[in-house]
Amino acid sequence: MAGDWTLGIESTAHTFSFGLVDGSGSPKPSASDTLRPTEGGIHPREAADHHVELSSVLLKRVLDENNLQPSDLGTVAYSQGPGMGACLRTGAAAARAISTHLEIPMIGVNHCVAHIEIGREQCGCDDPILLYVSGGNTQVIARLDGRYRVLGETLDIGIGNMLDKFARKHGIPFPGGPVIEKKALEWLSQNPEPSLQGLELPYAVHGMDLAFSGLMSAANKLVSQGKPFEAVCWSLQEHAFAACIEVAERALAHTGKTEILLGGGVACNQRLRDMSSIMCTERDASSHCPPRMYCIDNGTMIARLGWLEINSGRITSLIESGIDQEMRTDQTPISWA
Ligand code: ATP
Ligand code: FE2
Repeated sequence: MAGDWTLGIESTAHTFSFGLVDGSGSPKPSASDTLRPTEGGIHPREAADHHVELSSVLLKRVLDENNLQPSDLGTVAYSQGPGMGACLRTGAAAARAISTHLEIPMIGVNHCVAHIEIGREQCGCDDPILLYVSGGNTQVIARLDGRYRVLGETLDIGIGNMLDKFARKHGIPFPGGPVIEKKALEWLSQNPEPSLQGLELPYAVHGMDLAFSGLMSAANKLVSQGKPFEAVCWSLQEHAFAACIEVAERALAHTGKTEILLGGGVACNQRLRDMSSIMCTERDASSHCPPRMYCIDNGTMIARLGWLEINSGRITSLIESGIDQEMRTDQTPISWA
C-alpha cells in the first residue's frame, strides 16, 4: 500500500532537486545539486546529463534523510514548465518512472506558482504581491480572479541572469549574484557615506515592466572605464533592485493588497530584502521572505504545490505528462485555498 508523502522533482534549469512534504503538506528540506560550469553559461544538454547522473543519488538521499522507504510515497510531483526543454524532460522522465514503478499518481506543476506557494506556506502570508526574482524570471505577480496574474515583468533578461552575465564577463563563475552581493558590501564598508557610493546607471522601469540588459551594458562600460569593481557592483544592485521594488510598490497600490512576498534565487540577497522591508514599512504593508533554501530552486516547493493540487482533485495522466517550456504563471487555475 502506498504512503501519504509527496515527492517533488525540480529540474527546470541548472538545479536538480528532490524534496518532500508529508501527508499534511508540511515541507522537509530538499536534496539538491547544481551544475556550476567552470566557464561560459549553462548548456541545457550538459545540465540534463548532470541531472540524469545524479537522480538516483539525490532520491536516495532525500528518502534516507527522512527515514522513508519508496513505499511511503503516495504522489510524485514534477516541474512541468517553464524552463529548458532538455532539463525539464529529465525531471518528467524520473516522475513517470517513479509513478509507474510505485503505481502512484503523478502531477506536473507550474514552477513559478510553486515559488509562490512555498513562500505563502513558509511565511504565513495570505494574499501577497509576489516579487519573483530568479535567473530566468523577473515578475510581479498577484492573485486575481482565480489565477496568479503577471502585473509586470522583465522585457529582456531575468535579473539573476543579468547579474550572472555581468559577473562572468569579469571572471566570476556562476552563480555571480552572491559574489556581487559580497563585493557591494565591501564597497559599502569602505564608503559609508551614501553620496560616495553611487555611480550613475540607467534605470529601466517601463510602466509596470522592467529591463536589465541596458543596465548591464552600462555597468560593463563603467568597469572598462576603470571605476572600482566593488563600486559598480554596489550601484548595479541599487539600480536593479530599486526598479523591482518600485514596480512591486505600484502593484500594492493598484491592487490594495498589503503583503509583499519575495521568491526566486535573487531573493537570497539581503540588500533586496532590506529594500522591500523599508518600502513596506513606509506604506503600512508587510514584507515576507522564505528561508534561503526555499528561495532558490528546490524540489520541496514542487512537492508542496503537487500536494495542494492533488488534494483539490487534479492529477496528470501519462498522456498529459509532456513538458511545457513556455508555461506561463497565469496558465494554472488556482483550485486550492
Ligand atoms: P528560474 O527557473 O525560476 O528562473 P533559476 O533557474 O534562475 O530559477 P534560482 O535558484 O531561482 O534558479 O536562482 C538562481 C539565481 O539567483 C542566479 O542568477 C544567482 O546568481 C541568483 N542569486 C543567488 N543568490 C543571490 C544573492 N545573494 N544575490 C543576488 N543573486 C543571487
Ligand atoms: Fe525558480
